[in-house]
Amino acid sequence: MLTDLSGKVILITGGAQGIGAAAARLCARRGAVIYIADLNIEQGETLARELNAIQPGAAFFPLDVSSEEQVQQVIAQIQALTPKLDGLVCAAGILRGAFLTPEELTAEDFQMVQQVNVTGVFLSVKYAMPLLQASKQSVVVIIASGAGVQGPSSSLAYAASKGGANGLSMTLAAQLESRGIRVNTLSPGSIITEMKLRVELENARRQGIPEEEAIQNARRNYGTPEGVAPIIAFMLSDEADYLRGTLYTR
Ligand SMILES: NC(=O)c1ccc[n+]([C@@H]2O[C@H](COP(=O)([O-])OP(=O)(O)OC[C@H]3O[C@@H](n4cnc5c(N)ncnc54)[C@H](O)[C@@H]3O)[C@@H](O)[C@H]2O)c1
Repeated sequence: MLTDLSGKVILITGGAQGIGAAAARLCARRGAVIYIADLNIEQGETLARELNAIQPGAAFFPLDVSSEEQVQQVIAQIQALTPKLDGLVCAAGILRGAFLTPEELTAEDFQMVQQVNVTGVFLSVKYAMPLLQASKQSVVVIIASGAGVQGPSSSLAYAASKGGANGLSMTLAAQLESRGIRVNTLSPGSIITEMKLRVELENARRQGIPEEEAIQNARRNYGTPEGVAPIIAFMLSDEADYLRGTLYTR
């Protein structure tokens, strides 16, 4: 039996491409109304049109999750459309400073990554709380990373941020369970997306490996956003009610 998400309204930050977009498509096919919030306006709007054709009601909101003001504004716009959110997927994320040593990595880049990958998750949950609570059976899925569980990562900043996202998620799960909100973390290993391919190409450049070979290796060895999406859909479903405060990693 396929995971049923009919009647659910789900907000996906960072949903314009990659893992977030694959989750958006699958959740829409399983019956959910999807809201996408992302920096990438062009791709976000295109995807929202595609999602609308699958499940009417989908919408796109331009958003930088690292801006408290913007998160507040987007949640206010969503409140005008729906009385509840059954799911919040925090997939917005960046990786900077791949292969840089502590001496080379700037404090500014380090902080920027924490601002998006950790503060962005905190702000999204903070302002979505009234809508999540209104659902009675809502779920937050935080996309952290294996980089913050077993490591190592190509980036010091990214590793720190994903360890932070895992920690944030564990404590949110404990705090919010009594308020009817389940919080789970998905910490995938390497998944072929634009983010991962950029790192692979940088690595290839440094090692003198031809670009094409690096891309082929990644395709052979790494997971896909479509492979991760069913886990996200399951976490968001009522069938996953027993899952609370879990961290799935690979
Ligand atoms: N690809 C991997 O190997 C991998 C592994 C583990 C975890 N992750 C995590 O999965 C999540 C999705 O990454 P992906 O691999 O699909 O990458 P991606 O670059 O394809 O997608 C990331 C999305 O986040 C959006 N985004 C970036 N900064 C934002 C901001 N400040 N506000 C709003 N949106 C913003 C981008 O526009 C993009 O649509 C990230 O949190 C990433 O760290 C990725």
